[in-house]
Formats: sequence, C-alpha cells, structure tokens
Amino acid sequence: MKIIEWDEKFSVGIKEIDDQHKVLVDILDELYYAMLKARGNEVIETTLAKLLQYTKTHFTTEELLFKKHSYPEEKAHKAEHDAMLKKVNSFQKEFKNGKLIGVDLMQFLNKWFIEHLQTTDYRYVKFFRGIGVSTPP
Ligand SMILES: [Fe+2]
Ligand SMILES: [Fe+2]
Repeated sequence: MKIIEWDEKFSVGIKEIDDQHKVLVDILDELYYAMLKARGNEVIETTLAKLLQYTKTHFTTEELLFKKHSYPEEKAHKAEHDAMLKKVNSFQKEFKNGKLIGVDLMQFLNKWFIEHLQTTDYRYVKFFRGIGVSTPP
C-alpha cells in the first residue's frame, strides 16, 4: 500500500510535468516507506539523495518552461523552488550528522509537495491554459 499516491487532481495538463510529478510522488512514498520501516540509514540517505536529485531536474524543467513562455510569476515561483532545495539540503546535512529528522522531514515534504503542487504549480496552469500550452482535463 502506498502512503502517498498520485491523484488526477494534481494534473497540470502538461504531460512532461505530470510525469515528473508522478515520479516525485513515488520517490516521496519510497522515502516514507523507508523511514516507517526503519530500513536503516543507508536506504534513507540514498532515497533522500534521489528525491533531491529528481526534484532539481523537475524544477529546471518548470523554470525552462517559464522562461520559454515568459511566465509573469517566474521569479516568485523559482524562489519557492530554491527555498525548498535549501531546506532539504539542510535536512540532508542534519541526517548525515546523525540527527533524527524523520518526522520533521516527512511533515515538511508532505506539506511542501501538496501545497506547491496544488497552489503554486496550479497558478501556472491557469496561465499556460490561457496560451494553449496546458490542456484542460
Ligand atoms: Fe514548481
Ligand atoms: Fe512542480
């Protein structure tokens, strides 16, 4: 059973982005599972690194799209991405230093993904729909 699952309500109507969001949700689920099952620090560390890496790839995809279509909220959106990476980087450091970050990290990631996907990402959906880049469901 999955702890967090992709839902069609998350769809932004751009296939490449939806596919990446799906992968992110899967990695997040993998991380939750690793933590809940306490499968050892190595698994958590590897999964967290994977999440961070894929998140970076995904942010770059979105940011290139913003540039390409002159999205007016590009700056504010990118600031949210940067703040998230910074926060996860610091979690990663704490974890490597032996700190127990499980619950805090999961709460942060869960809140972040749900909120960012449903509010911040959703703002560009409206814009991209208006110029025909995103297709409504
Ligand atoms: Fe985003
Ligand atoms: Fe996104």
